[in-house]
Amino acid sequence: MSNHIELSNIRQSFQTKESKVTLFDDLNLSIIQGESYAITGPSGAGKSSLLMLLSGLEQATTGQGRYVKAGQSQSLDSLRADIGFIFQQFHLLPELTALNNVALPLKLRGDKSALNKARVWLDKVGLSHRLNHKPSELSGGEQQRVAIARALVFEPNFIFADEPTGNLDQKSATEIADLLFSCCQENNAGLVVVTHSEILASRAKHIFLLENGSLTNRQIKTQSRDIQRAISC
Ligand SMILES: Nc1ncnc2c1ncn2[C@@H]1O[C@H](COP(=O)(O)OP(=O)(O)O)[C@@H](O)[C@H]1O
Ligand SMILES: [Mg+2]
Repeated sequence: MSNHIELSNIRQSFQTKESKVTLFDDLNLSIIQGESYAITGPSGAGKSSLLMLLSGLEQATTGQGRYVKAGQSQSLDSLRADIGFIFQQFHLLPELTALNNVALPLKLRGDKSALNKARVWLDKVGLSHRLNHKPSELSGGEQQRVAIARALVFEPNFIFADEPTGNLDQKSATEIADLLFSCCQENNAGLVVVTHSEILASRAKHIFLLENGSLTNRQIKTQSRDIQRAISC
């Protein structure tokens, strides 16, 4: 069985001063390395929170999460070394050049060929002519390319992207989506994209809708509708 992340019977709630907010209750989801997933849903539905749980960066109120790697079951804490994250706002370090932004995760791991690997990845995302530019000297689309190279440079098993094209015009958004899906495929990484864009969502193999605290697989819904239609014909 491929490496995968499993969330079982997850409940996530927050106690604020005024009230208790329950984002979801009894949520179940499995993510397999090498496959792509889109999570759609209205603003405030809990998509970003779900991404934080799946990536092991936050803990659920109740429920179980596990990361199955090479057949061994581990806690979600151990995912940290195996994931890359891409955000809508890019989150690059403003003082560093593109090259050093991409090399940073490798340098932090003590990789001696950090700069060479960063150059290779910046070339893959079409930025070999922008190595020494700082984020403020790059367009939004270029900054997101740097963020993709930074997320993929250490070849993580899973990539999480929270509205990665939300700040881009349609042309840049299409280019970024092409890159994201092709780079993840090349690395055999699992990809989980949170998005408002139906165009971006439709590129994923599995499409989910998070709404009113529950997660539904939209493709299964469509299939069952097709079956119902076929039966009624
Ligand atoms: N740490 C927290 N404490 C209290 N409320 C939170 C916390 N994190 C998220 N929320 C609330 O949970 C809801 C869902 O947030 P989020 O996951 O960001 O939704 P989405 O990404 O779908 O827009 C929001 O109403 C937000 O205010
Ligand atoms: Mg969000």
